[in-house]
Amino acid sequence: MATIAFLLNGIPQRCEVSPDTSILTLLREHLAETGTKEGCASGDCGACTVAIGELAADIQGFASANACITPAPNFRASIW
Ligand code: FES
Repeated sequence: MATIAFLLNGIPQRCEVSPDTSILTLLREHLAETGTKEGCASGDCGACTVAIGELAADIQGFASANACITPAPNFRASIW
């Protein structure tokens, strides 16, 4: 298990997740944030796209990621 901390829509979050937990699973099943949808579950359709920014004093911008194939532990201290 890994502890990850991040801001979700501006709200601080801290979660324990297994190394293979995807961002989509974390959002939908752990945090009950069902606005992010699952389509193909293989990184092809983009239905699960989320915006991810680095946690810093001056945020420069966001990058998109397919939440269904992106492991949540990769993004400690990020903003979703
Ligand atoms: S559900 Fe299709 S890319 Fe994630």
